[in-house]
Amino acid sequence: MTPQKIIIDTDPGIDDAMAIFFALNSPELELIGLTTIFGNGFTDLTTTNALRLLEIAERPDIPVAVGAAQPVADRFDEPGSVVHGDDGQGNVHLPPPTAKPVDQNAAAFIIEQVMRAPREVTLVPIGPLTNIALALHLEPRIATAVREVVIMGGNALVPGNITPAAEANIFHDPEAADTVFGTSWPVTMVGLDVTQKTVMSSEQLGKLAQSTTATAQHLSAIIPFYQDFTLKANKFHGIYLHDPTTLAYLVAKDAFQTLQRPVRVETQGFSRGKTWIANDQTNKWSTAWQNRPPVNVCIGVNGPQISDLILERLM
Ligand code: BDR
Ligand code: CA
Repeated sequence: MTPQKIIIDTDPGIDDAMAIFFALNSPELELIGLTTIFGNGFTDLTTTNALRLLEIAERPDIPVAVGAAQPVADRFDEPGSVVHGDDGQGNVHLPPPTAKPVDQNAAAFIIEQVMRAPREVTLVPIGPLTNIALALHLEPRIATAVREVVIMGGNALVPGNITPAAEANIFHDPEAADTVFGTSWPVTMVGLDVTQKTVMSSEQLGKLAQSTTATAQHLSAIIPFYQDFTLKANKFHGIYLHDPTTLAYLVAKDAFQTLQRPVRVETQGFSRGKTWIANDQTNKWSTAWQNRPPVNVCIGVNGPQISDLILERLM
């Protein structure tokens, strides 16, 4: 089996760290680069964290490309410190990394990698979609050259998490998200409909804490911060596996139920960032969804199967 080449576009982030380690521990996947974005921190911090995580995993050879500092049409000024810590890694304050990012920016890196290996590279954005929209703008041919785009973001049939309407990644750059969902390319939306059904229990977290690998020990040091937030905000003792579920989709697609529907992203008012899927495939209800390509929208998942898989790969 030839592993699937992936680029993770990421804002590490506690669950981003889980996703990156999941990818590195999965023989089905070959991580060819990380591109960074704001979200759980400003982009300089998330870039430092991406480098730090690769060093913990003893993979400093994997390139890291620095992404956009701001959304395409708005200002970003509120990082997710309350969920992920001031350092984006549960306030464990890691030493500075030794490695440096590559000279190319994230959009240029994505374009070069996708165009160099047509239909081989899958993009896995697990933060706001700014870099992906910029790459599409600079080189529209990536839409036909990419293998797949698998996005953590959005909420089709469930409420949001950062506002009642919106999921955090989409909320931080709705204009970019509407471009990405409006492009004709093979996009899968792994949103809150499935990531909030995929939970790691405190019992599973206890098992993870028993692992002696450097990556599992780092996760066990940072996850308690996220667990405390989840207990206060969502009133349960485990954690949601947003970003690792998105990587798990690539290796266990059969565990997910999907609908093929055009997606629009609200960019105005108090519903800013809400992902609206069309009622059906005919799009007869509104011009807003007409002439938009279908997106593969995840609406159901075997949560226990996926959380077991994630735990196994992170041990
Ligand atoms: C998303 O927002 C971030 O806090 C997480 O890393 C995840 O990508 C969940 O809404
Ligand atoms: Ca993330």
